Amino acid sequence: MCGIVGYIGKQGAVGALIKGLRKLEYRGYDSAGVAVLDGGAMLVTKTPGKVAALSERVRAEWPAELLASARAGIAHTRWATHGLPTQSNAHPHLDETGRIALVHNGIIENYRPLRARLEAKGHHFHSETDTEVLAHLVGEFFSGDLFQAVCSALHQVEGTFGIAVFSSLEPDRIIAARRGSPIVVGMGDGETIVASDASVIVAHTHRVIFLDDNDVAVVKADSVDVRDLDNVPVNRAVAELGMDVESAEKGGYEHFMLKEIHEQPEALGNAIRGRLDFALGSAVLSGMNTSPRELAELKRVIMVGCGTSLHAGLVGEYAFEELAGVNAEVEQAAEFRYRNPILGSRDFVIAISQSGETADTLAAVREAHQKGAFVMSLCNVVGSTIARETGRGVYLHAGPEISVASTKAFTSQVAVLLMMALKLGRGRRLSREHGLELARAIESIPELVTRVLVQDDRIRALAAGCVRDEHAYFIGRGPLYPAALEGALKLKEISYIHAEGYHAAELKHGPIALLSKGTPVIALACDIPGKDKTLGNVEECRARGARIIGVVSEGDGEAAEHMDECLEIPRTHPLVTAIPAAVALQLFSYHVARLRGCEIDQPRNLAKSVTVE
Ligand code: AGP
Repeated sequence: MCGIVGYIGKQGAVGALIKGLRKLEYRGYDSAGVAVLDGGAMLVTKTPGKVAALSERVRAEWPAELLASARAGIAHTRWATHGLPTQSNAHPHLDETGRIALVHNGIIENYRPLRARLEAKGHHFHSETDTEVLAHLVGEFFSGDLFQAVCSALHQVEGTFGIAVFSSLEPDRIIAARRGSPIVVGMGDGETIVASDASVIVAHTHRVIFLDDNDVAVVKADSVDVRDLDNVPVNRAVAELGMDVESAEKGGYEHFMLKEIHEQPEALGNAIRGRLDFALGSAVLSGMNTSPRELAELKRVIMVGCGTSLHAGLVGEYAFEELAGVNAEVEQAAEFRYRNPILGSRDFVIAISQSGETADTLAAVREAHQKGAFVMSLCNVVGSTIARETGRGVYLHAGPEISVASTKAFTSQVAVLLMMALKLGRGRRLSREHGLELARAIESIPELVTRVLVQDDRIRALAAGCVRDEHAYFIGRGPLYPAALEGALKLKEISYIHAEGYHAAELKHGPIALLSKGTPVIALACDIPGKDKTLGNVEECRARGARIIGVVSEGDGEAAEHMDECLEIPRTHPLVTAIPAAVALQLFSYHVARLRGCEIDQPRNLAKSVTVE
């Protein structure tokens, strides 16, 4: 989704802004722009397409001396919501006078009446965007104090925003504000950086302030002053960023996705380390902050999330029911937030989100709080909005996930959900012996994943056979059913092959009509309860001429015989199997997409964190 960078300080601002935009490219965008001051006049360059195109234009069109001398400015990558990805719709947008520039993430919901009101006053608009309306509104309120003008404008808008505002009238400051869309301010040595994402900031400093909703910050090269919309100072703690520059780089891999797939043994090790209690056959997750009594009295677990995070929840559902004997449900966050769910204090709502910023998941959290449920989160990004608003939960510690297609976050989410279910189970009906069995299986996950990763060549060969396919079906049962859904999502996201995941039994209730000679069916038939039934479903597909690529347990010759081609993954506890299976499918999708020449880290139309409904 859209990305914001603002820079003010001792370095060349143009270089810092373009470099910052490059760090945001992974979020997905379709146009970019930058604004700095040239001898007191606002200079804006914008272009549809990539940051590289913007950088070329800036270097070709702006005076060389300005490239070196500009000390402040703002920049943006836009993911189109209101209007096509054109030059005029790209940010920064200017106010009527051309002296105030503004970049914005989010959606101004009441932009139409505001625009009509401003037009009636003689304002002229050059884009179809909601953002330009906000820029004009700030200009309309400006009477010598940019901070006040921004506050007055924000009082009038409905919707969500993360903004950075820069003006030739007050060139020593950038005004930043947020409501529902993240803004982080990095405080370096003689330089301050505003960004929608901490990955921009690590190259400059690790000292940051995360703005809260309705915070407005006056950002100068050597100071940050945070106030609310009514000009009352607010105290925001300075946090230390845990990530390093290296983890925001590709580290020799061709794509971030490949790097993140290969990082999984380490990421999973980090998610698991110190969280298993072998003496009790349980898990230690202090962030859940639950008393034994709360665990014992709990009535229901409801997991909410979107996309890959939703699939992780579906694996968790099996674990909570089997281990803790508790009713577990998983719901698409957008559906949950609007369907008036019946909730009470004995319902655990677990919001699952890699980014911790997904708009629908955040709204689901607020709905659950409103209804008095016991809400916690499972996030990767430390300090993200969902993590902060839930106040309790478990961090994944998977490290920054840059590729739009989620990989290490998924497997870490599943591992943490298994530990949550283990802890809950031991507080309820699970025996120490069974708890210990699962704890040992969880401990072995990094090694299981390594044993899948070493089969890269084999997986690439399987992928090569699917490069020309335009449809593919993934099937599985039990915890391998969500793994099949996730496998299909990965393939469609990055290779643009039409892929669907189905419960193996569901195929014959309709989708089997789509199978014909050679259609690839990826069958997850590892040795878990229900395998024989899946093998029966495989035969039904074969009878329609489908080409079966099997994922089976190591040494399971019987299952392999049902497949045209086959990949073996290590045997483990049935609840854990979804993890190595998912890793195999991640690599499979990666190689298909690579062989098709797709743009893997930033697939078309997709964004890393979806901060609009
Ligand atoms: C995964 O590959 C996707 N890009 C997407 O489905 C993602 O999982 C979804 O948007 C939810 O994001 P979150 O985990 O950050 O909330």
